[in-house]
Amino acid sequence: MNAPANIRELRISELSIHSGATPIVRNISLSLRPGQPLTLLGESGSGKSLVAQAVMGTLPPELVASGTIRLDGADLIASSPEERRKRWGRAISLLPQEPWLALDPTMQVGPQVAEVHRFVGGQAAPRSNARARANLDDVGLGHAGALYPFQMSGGMCQRAAIAIAHAAGSGLLIADEPTKGLDADLRDSVVTRLKQEVEAGRLLLTITHDIAVARALGGMVGIMLEGQLVDIGPAELVLGAPSHPYSRALLDADPESWDQRAQAPSGDAVLAGRFLAKAFGSHVLFRDFDVEVRAGEIVAVTGPSGCGKTTVGNILLGLVKPDTGSVERRKNVSPLRFQKLYQDPPAAFPPHQTIRRGLRDLAKLHRLQWAMWRNCSRAFVSTRTCSTACRARFREASCSASRSCARCFSIRSSCLPTRLHPASTRSARRR
Ligand SMILES: Nc1ncnc2c1ncn2[C@@H]1O[C@H](COP(=O)(O)OP(=O)(O)OP(=O)(O)O)[C@@H](O)[C@H]1O
Ligand SMILES: [Mg+2]
Repeated sequence: MNAPANIRELRISELSIHSGATPIVRNISLSLRPGQPLTLLGESGSGKSLVAQAVMGTLPPELVASGTIRLDGADLIASSPEERRKRWGRAISLLPQEPWLALDPTMQVGPQVAEVHRFVGGQAAPRSNARARANLDDVGLGHAGALYPFQMSGGMCQRAAIAIAHAAGSGLLIADEPTKGLDADLRDSVVTRLKQEVEAGRLLLTITHDIAVARALGGMVGIMLEGQLVDIGPAELVLGAPSHPYSRALLDADPESWDQRAQAPSGDAVLAGRFLAKAFGSHVLFRDFDVEVRAGEIVAVTGPSGCGKTTVGNILLGLVKPDTGSVERRKNVSPLRFQKLYQDPPAAFPPHQTIRRGLRDLAKLHRLQWAMWRNCSRAFVSTRTCSTACRARFREASCSASRSCARCFSIRSSCLPTRLHPASTRSARRR
């Protein structure tokens, strides 16, 4: 890592963000100092990512920030775009919520990390390459330097983005959902890494929906609701004895507090994969993988990042061909009833089409009443709202089986799938 730039304080005062005359974020005040990370929690669409973008200087042009954001006294909002760009990577780095959107699709991941050492750190090419290899090794991607982003899983892209943010060694690191898409082991290692960044003297602003991550990072926690910071204080206080009703509701909604649902009787098989095998080149993902989904069931596939879970789903949906094995679907069920809820929701939407238009097309396709969908049709949405919109599409188009029974199929890193039945893990629990 390049040595962290020595930044002593980020102070945000009365930050508001408007879209035209409409306020989206209102009067946010908070500060960050070395040794005291701050984590923002809060409902989807509450403005967490917009705060991060306002600090970074990457708000879309149609949004206007007011108030002050001072980095060691320098007012960022008053700075010119050129001045702000000069700080990118050097003073401030952003680990974005959707890492694969930030990675260059035309470039192997190793050179993308090396570039940071070369152009931000001013290192010679051989040293940059060696450091990039070490950065990738640190996040378990030592083998992946020659891969392009499209050849990597969602969790691998996430880790590559972490390696890039770490390589930059800027004084302020903003991590927007750094553990999204990662299994529990990797999540813990990312948290450990973020804590190391704090110990190395970097200021850390983390945005997460994972309360365990906020708890593990410690420091200060802020809770956002409808564009406002409704609660802020030491992590143990806000997460231990929350004072604001929304903070209490948020903590109660944590999956840790979910009830285990009773298992409902399951019906006939709707979808099955038999003896599935898939390899990419010499990389064997799985073989002899059997999976079956019966009416009334929830089936979960779990396993480490990059082990092939998304590929299993894509094979079952007919989006990817297995090397061997077969997929059976219940006869007389329309292909439209087999749907995918995407891991990276923005990838599921055409960027130049409004959500309204997409939902209208869907309602037409399924001969549904448009009135049902009207409320979901805002033109610009937060990432998790994209996810909600995806779920709306998924719910409507998916098999009508009630989902109250869960089974879990685990793919282990050894590539040999284990079948667990019935579900006995948290990952298979659903509300
Ligand atoms: N370019 C834009 N124009 C208008 N509104 C926008 C724009 N970008 C985001 N918004 C709105 O701002 C609000 C906050 O968005 P933001 O992405 O900050 O939410 P978030 O708290 O990060 O949510 P999530 O947890 O889902 O990522 C949302 O209501 C969103 O629809
Ligand atoms: Mg966000």
